[in-house]
Amino acid sequence: VRASDTHHLSVRELALAYYVQGDWFQILFIHGFPLDRTVWRQIMATLTGWRRIAPDLRGMGLSDVPNRYSMTEYADDLVALLDALSAPKAVICGLSMGGYIAFEMMRRHPDRIRALILCNTRAEADAEDGKRRRNDMIGLVQREGTGALADVMVPKLLAPASLKVMPAVVEHVRTMIAGNPPAGVVGAIEAMRDRPDSTEMLPKIDLPTLVIAGRDDQLIPPAASRKLADSIPGAQFTLIPDAGHLSPLEQPVATSRVIAEFLGAID
Ligand code: MLT
Repeated sequence: VRASDTHHLSVRELALAYYVQGDWFQILFIHGFPLDRTVWRQIMATLTGWRRIAPDLRGMGLSDVPNRYSMTEYADDLVALLDALSAPKAVICGLSMGGYIAFEMMRRHPDRIRALILCNTRAEADAEDGKRRRNDMIGLVQREGTGALADVMVPKLLAPASLKVMPAVVEHVRTMIAGNPPAGVVGAIEAMRDRPDSTEMLPKIDLPTLVIAGRDDQLIPPAASRKLADSIPGAQFTLIPDAGHLSPLEQPVATSRVIAEFLGAID
């Protein structure tokens, strides 16, 4: 993915940055928290034959930092981006918080979704103790900035083995987090804290669905991802070895391969 593949478009009164490559069927990649579109860099470099679109969510990466944040705002931004790119329908591939946004898109814009790829994510809302931890994290970012957040999050996002043997990946994750604007990161934490539960929707999902889990994911245990897949009729489940919470970065080859196989079958 070259720098020239990054574009900007104004939608809903804000400028969103996004990668786009290729043509033919559309696939929209939604990054996790507190990352940016570059988490999909290696995945974007494969999957030729698909039009790969990977935006920075509002408040992160190179996109504008507005005042309002919620799953609804993120979902509506992305549908506006699809409109602007003349993409009536797309496969939606969401990583972690990107999955929370995919569920919101299912609620609000189901006719825009061709298939779902749910990567290292969950359908449940935050429990009370989770909401308290979100508030503590907001305090940390407001007091000490996103560099301090990177110190806390990098060891949780990556598998212990990746932390040891993948210095370039560790550096990339740290750079994404520390480079994000505190206001956008706080907005994302509030949006995650206040997101609705999506478990009731799962048995009603009537789309080809792939669930991807990292075997060493410290934030979302593989058993929880397996349960997510089991709750969606006909969903496929893939466990990626030697990956933590960021399968697309830690094991890009294995992750692209399962995505390519899944896309091939719905083609
Ligand atoms: C993410 O990777 O998007 C976040 O860790 C998800 C979360 O904090 O719930």
